[in-house]
Order: sequence, then structure tokens, then C-alpha cells
Amino acid sequence: MRVAVVGATGAVGRRMVSILEEREFPLDELRLFASPRSEGTRIPFRGESLTVHAAGGRWHEGVDVALTSAGGSVSRALLPEAAAAGTVCIDNSSAFRMDPDVPLVIPELNPDALLGHRNLIANPNCTAIVALMALGPLHREFGLRFLITSSYQSVSGAGQKGIRELAEQLGKLHGQEEALGLDGPVDAGGLPSGSVFPKTIAYNVVPICERPDPEGSGFTTEELKMGNEARKILGAPDLVVAATAVRVPVPVGHGISAYARFDRPTSPGAAREVLAAAPGVRVLDDPEAGAYPTPIEAAGRDDVLVGRIRRAHDDERALMLFSAGDNLRKGAALNAVQIAELLAG
Ligand SMILES: NC(=O)c1ccc[n+]([C@@H]2O[C@H](COP(=O)([O-])OP(=O)(O)OC[C@H]3O[C@@H](n4cnc5c(N)ncnc54)[C@H](OP(=O)(O)O)[C@@H]3O)[C@@H](O)[C@H]2O)c1
Repeated sequence: MRVAVVGATGAVGRRMVSILEEREFPLDELRLFASPRSEGTRIPFRGESLTVHAAGGRWHEGVDVALTSAGGSVSRALLPEAAAAGTVCIDNSSAFRMDPDVPLVIPELNPDALLGHRNLIANPNCTAIVALMALGPLHREFGLRFLITSSYQSVSGAGQKGIRELAEQLGKLHGQEEALGLDGPVDAGGLPSGSVFPKTIAYNVVPICERPDPEGSGFTTEELKMGNEARKILGAPDLVVAATAVRVPVPVGHGISAYARFDRPTSPGAAREVLAAAPGVRVLDDPEAGAYPTPIEAAGRDDVLVGRIRRAHDDERALMLFSAGDNLRKGAALNAVQIAELLAG
């Protein structure tokens, strides 16, 4: 099998390459593509050093499976032709996720959606994956009806450049920690700014991820993905979702606080039991013993960590919980490789 990674130099693409190696994906040849800026860059794979080429022209010729992670406009430009020519494309961008002809798949939750695919498969949004790895098994058991989430999203969710922007700003503000705000309100004009995040991200949290909904709903485009993708993946068209997405100065790992209301009665104990048996989920739920999920503990792991499971006051149908997962691994690269494994199997 010949596999290609498009966007191989990016935050997600680099993980795709390393995860293909870690999991000994049954491939005969790996081809790496990125923008013309990266032509000639070398990336290690199975003891060799592979050369990155610019994606364009007949890049997909001879490629059986392409894992693509180069942004929505690149996917829109490259994938329809590749899929029509017979390359199975597993796309990490948001370009095709809501297309009714394109399966949107988390292998642990809805592998059957792959049946009858037309060579184009979408990988869900990273925050949706981390949230649904916990909520999907609970939905199956208790019937999820209403969901409120607040996500604490790491800067790598905006790619390599997000990590660089945080590091640069931390460097500029280092040493000023005790002085910040000491003499009254901070002059925003004097704070470091960048091109990735709309406000200073170092020592701050920014309650806008992506951009405000152009339709004027008051949500951001990132927040709307949570509801749209959850309804599609869970097959729950009536699920009501209200999401808030916040960028936090964390390099890798998204944390999500969820209030979930179900059709049927549930309890924290029953939820822990369901989640303990769910593949890809690790329950860490003993706060007194220091066991609860944090993004830094989720970084580099395949499992999504879930804890702080509690009843929402006296409501026997409602639970609150916190999940944390590596946005670059299970939130992106690992999920895509797992889809490829299902197809290869
Ligand atoms: N980061 C996450 O947590 C996450 C999670 C889920 C989904 N995603 C999605 O995954 C995609 C990539 O995200 P990322 O975080 O890895 O971004 P990134 O670090 O900015 O990497 C982008 C990659 O795309 C390549 N690229 C850019 N323009 C290209 C072109 N014209 N032709 C071919 N390749 C091109 C870049 O190549 P150069 O290095 O040559 O510029 C780089 O390899 C995005 O659609 C994003 O929404 C990201």
C-alpha cells in the first residue's frame, strides 16, 4: 500500500508520520507533501529520511491512501480530483465534514459510517473528538439530549505557528509577571501581539477561537462545529448543543468541561462504569487522591482522560464532567490513522 501525508511538515502532519511508524501501519511506501516552501525538507521515518515534495499536479498518482492535513482550502483544491482518481483521502480539515456524502468518523464511536464511502472521509474537529470520546459512550447508554461545553483549547490547535506565537510572547513578558496590572489596567497597546491569535495569548485566555459566525449567531465558527459535528457523529439530529471555546496558553492538549443532560436517568457511578469499558478512554476520577485529567497529562497519550464526573445538583438525568486529550494525536493524527487502519483491515 502506498500512503501519502499532505501537510507533513505541520503540527498534525508530523504526528501522522510518527504515528504511522509507531503503529507499524502496513504500508510499502510513504510519500510526504507540503507547500512549495518545504520542498526538500527531510523527515525521519522507519530509520530513513524521507524528502518532502510540494503537493500539486499529479501528486496522488499511485497513492492508495492520503492523510491530508494542510487546511481547508488546500483540501478543497486537491482532494476531489484525487478521490475521483481512486485515492482514499482521509481529511483533517473542516472542508468536507458536513457534506452529507462524506463520513465523519471517530473509529471508537461510528465506524459503520465508513461503509459505502466515496474515497473521501473527514476527520472531526479536535475539540469535538476529545469531548465525544467521553460523551459518545454515555449517549449510547443514556441518550444525550442537551449539552453545554466550555473548551480550554491549546495553542497548537492553531498549528505550529500557534506554538511559536505563544513562545515569542512568553519571552517578551517574562520577568514582568509581578508588575502586570500593578499600576492599574494594563495598556493593551503595550502587550505583545501576533498574527495567529486576536489578543495576547501569553498569561491570558482568549474567548474567541477562529472567528465570529458570519451568520451573526453570536457563536464562533469553532463553537458551531461542536454541535454540528456531534449531531452527525452520534446520529442525534435533535441534540441541542451550546459551546464556548476559549484559547489558553497551553502548548498541547485540549480540556473540555461538559454539562450533559440525558433522556434516561444516570449517575456518576453508572457513567464511570460505562467509561471504564470504553475503548480509547481512561477514567481518572479521584480528586482527593489527585486523580483528575489535565491537558499536560493528556499530551503525548492516545487515550482521552475523563474525570470530575458528578451529578448536576439534584437532576438525575444530568452529569458534569471534564475531559482532556491530545489535540494533535487523538484530536487529529491518531484518529486519521485509526480510520486508515479500519479501511486497511
Ligand atoms: N492542530 C490541531 O490540533 C488540529 C486538529 C484537528 C484538525 N486540524 C486541522 O489540520 C489542518 C492542519 O493543521 P496543523 O495544525 O497541522 O497546521 P500547521 O502546523 O500550520 O501545518 C499546515 C501544513 O499544511 C501545509 N501546507 C500549507 N499550504 C499548503 C499548500 N498550498 N499545499 C500543500 N501543503 C500546504 C504546511 O506546509 P509548509 O510547512 O510547507 O507551510 C504544513 O505542512 C488544518 O486544516 C487544521 O484545521 C488541526
